[in-house]
Amino acid sequence: MVYQIYPRSWADGNGDGIGDLPGITARLPYLRDLGVDAVWLSPFYVSPQADAGYDVADYRDIDPIFGTLADADTLLATAHDLGLKVIVDLVPNHSSDEHPWFQAALAAGPGSPERERYIFRDGRGPHGDLPPNNWLCVFGGAAWTRVKAADGTDGQWYLHLFAARQPDLNWDNPQVRAEFEDVLRFWLDRGADGFRVDVANALIKEAGLPDWDEPLHLLGDVDVIPHDHHGKRPPMWDQDGVHEVYRAWRQILNSYNPIDAAGYSGDNDRILCAEAWVDSPERLARYVRDDEMHQAFNFKFLQTQWRAGDLRDAVSTSFTAADSVGAPTTWVLSNHDVVRHTSRLGLPVGTKRPNGIGDGDPQPNAALGLRRARAATALMLALPGSSYLYQGEELGLPDSTDMPDDVRQDPTWPRSGHTERGRDGCRVPMPWEGDRPSYGFGPSDRTWLPQPASYAALAVDRQVGAPDSTLELYRALLAIRRELALGAGSLSWLGGYSEEVVAFVNEPGAGERVVVITNLGAEPVAVPGGALVLVSSGPLTLQGLVPTDTTVWLSA
Ligand code: GLC
Ligand code: CA
Repeated sequence: MVYQIYPRSWADGNGDGIGDLPGITARLPYLRDLGVDAVWLSPFYVSPQADAGYDVADYRDIDPIFGTLADADTLLATAHDLGLKVIVDLVPNHSSDEHPWFQAALAAGPGSPERERYIFRDGRGPHGDLPPNNWLCVFGGAAWTRVKAADGTDGQWYLHLFAARQPDLNWDNPQVRAEFEDVLRFWLDRGADGFRVDVANALIKEAGLPDWDEPLHLLGDVDVIPHDHHGKRPPMWDQDGVHEVYRAWRQILNSYNPIDAAGYSGDNDRILCAEAWVDSPERLARYVRDDEMHQAFNFKFLQTQWRAGDLRDAVSTSFTAADSVGAPTTWVLSNHDVVRHTSRLGLPVGTKRPNGIGDGDPQPNAALGLRRARAATALMLALPGSSYLYQGEELGLPDSTDMPDDVRQDPTWPRSGHTERGRDGCRVPMPWEGDRPSYGFGPSDRTWLPQPASYAALAVDRQVGAPDSTLELYRALLAIRRELALGAGSLSWLGGYSEEVVAFVNEPGAGERVVVITNLGAEPVAVPGGALVLVSSGPLTLQGLVPTDTTVWLSA
């Protein structure tokens, strides 16, 4: 069970309105009490924050807004004392434009070894004033930006699959490979338990950088997984060459993971987890072959519509693909890049996943969304494999869906010509205490994004000990999951239910059975005779039936 902290928005230690490492360290006991095993921290490195820290200027130091290296050491030590592992975010596809390498590349000019660490090309057209190819950037607009030559005239272009301030590194250059291997060791030596690898599917580009006519969307370039692009693979995504990089990294991780005679690495297991937006579970499985990464986010599951058949299919195909390479499956419903599942599931079934929701957009049905989100989470946490939670989902937080557009920070909003609002709505600071300024986010009333008024009633202190609260539901689910080792169980589907029901058994060990029923249909569903309810995402009917949009775990 991995809990994602978005450092800007979890806990502010010094009252400047931005979350920081001392703030996180002080709140870590909350995560022990929640019952997770590990924390993944989104980037805290030195960064001009052009993409909220996913634009790194120094991979070996902490940005002053988040603290110092000493604060990171304290965080790691405190987490370890509490029995929590810490996974840090690694951003290898691109650096910040303020990274010394990029500054050196600008200064050194065309043909220099400094430019060879990035992807510089001459422009097309008689004066080179057309971009080298037609690729579009994920945040909108062209994926190329032109730089000035030393004499002030227009010069070469550089590639950036994301914002213009995030130049793509050239992974065909051995210097780039060596540098990141060293960065891995730097954090492993400091005690990090692993890495979440940002856009792991993007590092290698097809030779010759051929044109590609489809737009790139932030989270992969398709909304439907699997997707075949008419039999072609996009030249910037999921090229086979990326796997060589991860095989080398796995060797490094292994050297920090002494393996015993039985092949088990005991308490020393440090992991790599891929963020890879690829076209199918089969392509995803390639990232977790036994000499590559340990885990990869399962975005197919996140993208699945609230339909029983779609959910069964997503679960089955995920297992089939992961089993084919002997890796654990993972599950995830929310993160810092997508509308939170409480809000997503409050939109009509079949709605295309929006990239942010704002004023004037169709608004989610809050009560329906929360009910479905609780049922979806209870379904997810009963599945064998590893699950990733995003901060605040344990409170049932919705996205901020009506924040004023002029406070938005995500580059998506300006770069898309104000057509896609982007990801600010899921990045709003956490509410800890409902009656305090900034709802207890920090010691002042400042928050880098405004918190919706609805967050007061959802604050941690309002939910602790409240039997029907979403926080207590998560705690119960996580406690049972840990006690019964459901994450290491095996799943079989249960027959005899209507098409609109997802029903399975998780058998974590000999003789142990947990029956899980999620009812997406209108009619309440009976549970097996003699079964004992372990936990339920919402109340059962007076007759003990499972009502619509409810998940129940039973011992049977
Ligand atoms: C990943 C991150 C996202 C970031 C992008 C570029 O998708 O999750 O937040 O904008 O990579 O680094
Ligand atoms: Ca702060």
